[in-house]
Amino acid sequence: MSFESEIQRRRTFGIISHPDAGKTTLTEKLLLFGGAIQEAGAVKNNKIKKGATSDFMEIERQRGISVATSVLAFIYKDKKINILDTPGHKDFAEDTFRTLTAVDSVIVVIDVAKGVEEQTEKLVEVCRMRKIPIIVFINKMDREGKDAFDLLDEVEQKLGLKVTPLSFPIGMGYDFKGIYNIYEKNINLFSGDSKKNIEDVIAFSDIQSDELEKTIGTDAADELRDNLELVSGVYPEFDRDEYLNGNLQPVFFGSALNNFGVRELLDCFVDIAPTPRPKMSEERLVDSKEKEFTGFVFKIHANMDPKHRDRLAFIKIVSGTFERNKPYLHVRNNKKLKFSSPNAFFAEKKEIIDISYPGDIVGLHDTGNFKIGDTLTEGENLHYKGIPSFSPEHFRYINNADPLKSKQLFKGIDQLMDEGVAQLFTLEMNGRKVIGTVGALQYEVIQYRLEHEYGAKCTYENFPVHKACWVDPKDPKNDEFKEFKRVKQKFLAKDKRGQLVFLADSQFSLQMTQQKYPSVTLRFTSEFE
Ligand code: G4P
Repeated sequence: MSFESEIQRRRTFGIISHPDAGKTTLTEKLLLFGGAIQEAGAVKNNKIKKGATSDFMEIERQRGISVATSVLAFIYKDKKINILDTPGHKDFAEDTFRTLTAVDSVIVVIDVAKGVEEQTEKLVEVCRMRKIPIIVFINKMDREGKDAFDLLDEVEQKLGLKVTPLSFPIGMGYDFKGIYNIYEKNINLFSGDSKKNIEDVIAFSDIQSDELEKTIGTDAADELRDNLELVSGVYPEFDRDEYLNGNLQPVFFGSALNNFGVRELLDCFVDIAPTPRPKMSEERLVDSKEKEFTGFVFKIHANMDPKHRDRLAFIKIVSGTFERNKPYLHVRNNKKLKFSSPNAFFAEKKEIIDISYPGDIVGLHDTGNFKIGDTLTEGENLHYKGIPSFSPEHFRYINNADPLKSKQLFKGIDQLMDEGVAQLFTLEMNGRKVIGTVGALQYEVIQYRLEHEYGAKCTYENFPVHKACWVDPKDPKNDEFKEFKRVKQKFLAKDKRGQLVFLADSQFSLQMTQQKYPSVTLRFTSEFE
């Protein structure tokens, strides 16, 4: 197959949702359609995750939370589908944000009864900012939920999207009869025992036909016709370019658990979803069809095997082909690196691969060279833009609890921060280290991993911070900045890259500081992590 056709057949995407909306169930059903797994429940039981990426952290299994992002790949209709799994738990939102730098499109899952939830809002906002094409899947139609039109309104208002339904439910909950597929113009009838079977579909290019009454009954037929009339009156016609540009979001309805509406979603997805998109670097826009390899690290997974301190860096290939044993430039270190065993991921396993194409994810064994956001090229001095760090929500001092193990502790902290588990701040005044996280759970993860992977023990101490702001002095030599540094010394720290950070202890002190030192800009995101 030619290089161009390999690119054309790739679809790399992420599924995002608020926890419990059905992301895992939908992923599993997509894998079933792709023939990538044989039984339902495999994703849930963690069988796939174990096989695909070996033993993820013990803590993940203990808690049943997907701490890490994994890649599940399969072939469907000759398309190579790469699903980048994203943790749903809000304490790991940063991990999900980073994964969104590596997807070409997303599917957003919404629970029909709960509607748009908090976590979905945050994630979709990031996608919207980045103009990532979005498909919405409204799940759990077998349950009583909100009216379809009300939900579409809610999606538009809360998520700031412009939607157009490509399927429409016939009834809901107890009365749920099936789905009219607007995209393919056919009806898929729901029956209680459809759990494992792919249903027969009935073509209905003309919904005025009498056959509709015979198929779903008079009342449902009238209602469906009315609803479809309203759909075509209110919502714009589907336009693929608008979708690809992030200006229009198609909506599907279904029930992942009952395997209903999933095939329609997948068929349309492979049809319309983008092939690997061009990506902006600091220097220029890089097209996937360029022959020279470029890629970037969006995820680092450490210590898959705690006995060997190895890490797996996940690289998204942006352009060209990535080949085994070929030297590539690690741009930040200006060093050539060769990889003898790059991993490709499939739903049930990972294996060493000789060549990978744009859109693919390869896992590279790493002994500490990589940081999140690093770029690899064939020699070009290129830096892909990542997503910035945001202010953490929680801050705690980290103390060494075993003085004999301080080396291990610092090494552990250093590597965990490279992985993006949390953010480290070193206070200017006394050199004490402060860990900032999005959720309290991360402190337990860090403590556990330091102990089990690095043999180091730590304790925490509260450190009340309202917000971390990155300091942009404009002119570091001006007196106002010097005064700011002197007066606020107690609240100043360096982040891991040596950027100056102001740790405001309250909203009030933040405002006062901004007023008092107008030439010192306080930014709420670092430029790049
Ligand atoms: P998540 O990954 O987004 O967190 O959600 P997940 O797939 O784990 O689904 C959350 C719950 O919703 C699960 O139930 C799942 O079975 C259920 N679910 C998913 N899709 C549908 C659907 O289409 N209809 C209905 N009625 N339920 C659905 P659970 O009780 O938490 O887990 P389990 O005991 O079923 O495994």
